Amino acid sequence: MARPERRNAMTGRTWTALAHIGQTLPESVRIVVVKGDGPSFSAGIDLAMFSPEGVEGERSLMRDLRDGDPDHSALADTIASYQEGFLWLRDPGIVSIASVRGHAIGAGFQLALSCDLRVLADDARMCMKEPALGLVPDLTGTKPLVETVGVSRALELCLTAREVPAEEARELRLAEVVVDGASLDATVDDLVAGLLATPAEAATATKELIRQAPGNTLEEQAEAERRAQIGRLAALARGGDG
Ligand code: CAA
Repeated sequence: MARPERRNAMTGRTWTALAHIGQTLPESVRIVVVKGDGPSFSAGIDLAMFSPEGVEGERSLMRDLRDGDPDHSALADTIASYQEGFLWLRDPGIVSIASVRGHAIGAGFQLALSCDLRVLADDARMCMKEPALGLVPDLTGTKPLVETVGVSRALELCLTAREVPAEEARELRLAEVVVDGASLDATVDDLVAGLLATPAEAATATKELIRQAPGNTLEEQAEAERRAQIGRLAALARGGDG
């Protein structure tokens, strides 16, 4: 994100552009690092999106509501198109890393949550601001939040909309690692190098397996492990990359 003068505040176009990046990502890309220019990862939605005038060149959510069809299906489609910008970061063929310095607020926090891994600078502050603004978090962040911190803590964080400092984020497992700001880029580079050292197909199959584990019973997961391993063994026997 490269809008530091607005603390990387995001509009609908940011999210449809993100979706486009996901849809057109070359197959050779294995790691995606999401970061923001300037002092903040992202201040979340551009608050002008909620004004009656909206943001120039963008759909106005408020106008859509006022003029839209009574069942709000157009608005639901719009939100779904925004969510596409976040969903692909879980794709098994890539590992996504959020490199977070400064604030990650609202949509910014949800973007970090959409990534597989989070590396935080020690000045990072995460905040699920939406309920404080009369909204709900709707950019696919609630599921990873609950899966990471549990229902009670997720409720507390969302309903107080308090800022979670980096060290607490690490304790809550919202961050894999916290480093001083000067070391953030080098730490992410080292992590990328470590991830790239694992053969691509094995990494994809393992991510697929791990991602489905929370929704599977033990028996289902054991079956999925067998299936994935037979695929890997067959590839190795054929002389593939393993
Ligand atoms: N939308 C539009 N402009 C924003 C913005 C936002 N979300 N956040 C910051 N800016 C602008 C400020 O208005 C300011 O502009 P000017 O220079 O013209 O005054 C500029 O960016 C720099 O901001 P600050 O001077 O406030 O910078 P800071 O470093 O002191 O503070 C901040 C950073 C803590 C992120 C603070 O700007 C802030 O609290 N921003 C608002 C955060 C917010 O409420 N976001 C909405 C989250 S909810 C969400 O995202 C909803 C959803 O998905 C449905």
